[in-house]
Amino acid sequence: MKLKIVFYLSWMALATLSANAQATATAQKTKWFTDARFGMFIHWGLYSAAEGMWKGERLRYGNNYAEWIRYRNRISKEEYGTLAKRFDWNRINPEEWVLLAKKAGMKYITITSKHHDGVALWNSKVSDYNLTKLSGTNRDVIRELAVACKKHGIKLGFYYSHWVDWDHPYGWDHNKELTGIKDEDYDRYWQEKVIPQLRELLTNYGDIAMFWFDMWLNYKKTVVKKEQLDQVVRLIRELQPNCLINSRIGLPASDPGVDFESKGDNEFGSAYTEHPWETSGTIAHSWGYYGQENEWKSTSQLLQSLIGNVSLNGDFTLNIGPRADGSVPYEGVRRLEDMGKWLSKNGEAIYGCTGLELRAGQHDWGRITTKRVHKKQLVYLHVYNWPLDKVLRLSGILSRPEKAELITDAGRKPLKFVQQGPLTHIHLPQQAGDRFVSVIVLRYPEPVEVDGEMVAEAGFGGFPLSSSNVWENTAAYKRVKYDGLRPAHFIIDKEGALTWEVYIPEAGNYAADLSYHNHSKAPIGVQLLVTGQRLEQQLKPSGTIVAEPHSSYTEEFADTRLGQLRFSDAGFYQLTFKAAVKEGGPLLLNRVWIQKVAQ
Ligand code: GLC
Repeated sequence: MKLKIVFYLSWMALATLSANAQATATAQKTKWFTDARFGMFIHWGLYSAAEGMWKGERLRYGNNYAEWIRYRNRISKEEYGTLAKRFDWNRINPEEWVLLAKKAGMKYITITSKHHDGVALWNSKVSDYNLTKLSGTNRDVIRELAVACKKHGIKLGFYYSHWVDWDHPYGWDHNKELTGIKDEDYDRYWQEKVIPQLRELLTNYGDIAMFWFDMWLNYKKTVVKKEQLDQVVRLIRELQPNCLINSRIGLPASDPGVDFESKGDNEFGSAYTEHPWETSGTIAHSWGYYGQENEWKSTSQLLQSLIGNVSLNGDFTLNIGPRADGSVPYEGVRRLEDMGKWLSKNGEAIYGCTGLELRAGQHDWGRITTKRVHKKQLVYLHVYNWPLDKVLRLSGILSRPEKAELITDAGRKPLKFVQQGPLTHIHLPQQAGDRFVSVIVLRYPEPVEVDGEMVAEAGFGGFPLSSSNVWENTAAYKRVKYDGLRPAHFIIDKEGALTWEVYIPEAGNYAADLSYHNHSKAPIGVQLLVTGQRLEQQLKPSGTIVAEPHSSYTEEFADTRLGQLRFSDAGFYQLTFKAAVKEGGPLLLNRVWIQKVAQ
């Protein structure tokens, strides 16, 4: 018995050790990726020459992804192949894409070596139906790109559509949802095309930094088998052990075959995530070049996507769709150049940075990134919205900075700040530090102490106690998100208590206001409790509000003053809310608002 326990314990210890060793090995392997933070995605292939139009007809069905044209507009193999004749080889120069990526401050490039159309961009031995052969050139864009990346110090990755292939007779095409396909036939595609092509890519082009596979579902929901994925992983591990593999191979991020998580298209982070991850996003709507494109994202929006992901420990891989002459549309170039200028000034707040373990999006003025430099910790405040009252309110860092500076075009400007416990008020000049996003650098003498539970101070001061920052919810009240009509709220339908942790910055009187909807026909008694004080009120039933004239009505969220609280000292307090809903209800609680009363 004893022996068994010892054996079990040492087995456990070994298992933990090897799990730790594996985590360290993965961290080392992915370090370049988590330091890089910003990369370029390139969607370029035969579809680029169609530009989202076929025989005078626009791309079919809802989603304007121009690289889907062969499937959506039911184009025959022969006709689709003729698009290769539109490629202008005198002008195509992959080195220009690399230079553009560099100028934009991007550290890696991932190109669509083979997209869903099944057409390899290189002269693949597997099939003559590839861009080189079809366009009658001897050029190999993949080779040229690999050479240029090496020359300019950019990492190179390959997007490879493994699951979907509209060209191979046994590849997956979504119409097979109707007809089905035999497993052995699909495996023929896998063995005849996927494996040999991956082998070509892994052996002929030097170091490959990553393979970006594209399956936006778990493989179990598709025709692909685990053994097939394992075969791919084994091949990559054998031929290029340092090459990273993304989760859209069809496996969960925790699978040993996956090195980083790729979220859905344009799906950004919502919570701090420990393992390496990225969002691939478009600069407009379509990935491949679309001649009718009119949904260009603004530079601020793109910068905020990058910063937002870094603040949650993620990367951003931003796509461009060059034309069949290799040129990148002006709108794209403009934005990449602007991002590059911003990064050349503020890049230290992105590269090698991660986030603080605060609530995602708790500050209404922007986002926070951070990094350690030797013993010090640098905290970067990315200000999207320059405060009208020129006070930036930071919540949740208990340590005291030794210095605060604003990054401007004319260098760094020292800033004054006042700190009260976990609240730091930074005094700002009239002029923002940057047109897009201003960065403030806080330098701390040692790693910072963070309080991720407290209620953050709002933009102009005051504390909103809401469903997104509650500290304890004893009755497990259901939380409902903002749905376009009603604010985010708790549904209070049974006895229980909600408690928030608030830092009161100075002694004095504070008003407490409540925003709620009483759904019942009778009044509901509520209480707000803190250190021997109790505010009480009977809330009348609430009615309906016209949200949009003639179109939508919804529950009204009324605002009422519960009263005033007196705090004799600055410090942390726990505020508890209770509602007597035994006979009625439910009560929908939007927020309790605490604000100092002007003397
Ligand atoms: C989707 C689309 C594809 C695009 C990719 C990029 O999977 O099918 O066209 O390449 O997303 O993330």
